[in-house]
Amino acid sequence: MILRGFALLEAAPIFGHVNKIAAVSPFRHMITPGGFRMSIAMTNCGKVGWISDRKGYRYTEIDPETGSHWPAMPSLFSQLSERAATAGGFAGFASDACLVNRYEPGARLTLHQDKDEADFRHPIVSVSLGLPATFLFGGNTRKERPRRYRLESGDVVVWGGPARLTYHGVAPLKDGVSDLTGACRINLTFRKAS
Ligand code: SIN
Ligand code: FE2
Repeated sequence: MILRGFALLEAAPIFGHVNKIAAVSPFRHMITPGGFRMSIAMTNCGKVGWISDRKGYRYTEIDPETGSHWPAMPSLFSQLSERAATAGGFAGFASDACLVNRYEPGARLTLHQDKDEADFRHPIVSVSLGLPATFLFGGNTRKERPRRYRLESGDVVVWGGPARLTYHGVAPLKDGVSDLTGACRINLTFRKAS
């Protein structure tokens, strides 16, 4: 479900928190298990954070770049993700991980499933800020041709239940400048990982 403009009123304070998080656990380009540098830059907040390196994908309590815990999840984030999940039909969502992705022009995310979480009964809640992007939402196999949805700043996507393991991704970001974020798109994905 796409909740158009669901986070619009809170977009500026959310972005303020993103900057504070990145001041502690900086954005970095992670390396895939296959040895490729991801085009999007990532950081996390919450009890656990998602990482990728040569050893694989996983959630960790410690940021490997800083050697410390990931920054705590701001209550604005937990409350917003809980409200969005409820609006999407998943009441009682309590996320413990927020992956923060930064897309600069040209950056993309190839089709993948979010499957490093312990229990797929919990949905994924995704918040878009800044430059618009084309979200790709496919099927249960990589082969299915994805549908394309334009996501604007403040839009929130919720997928769960039978759609929880849907292949999804983001088309290469087009050039532009956002009043809020400058020349990039920020995406927050909230998960209940552990
Ligand atoms: C993700 O799949 O983790 C991010 C999706 C997005 O940037 O919209
Ligand atoms: Fe994903």
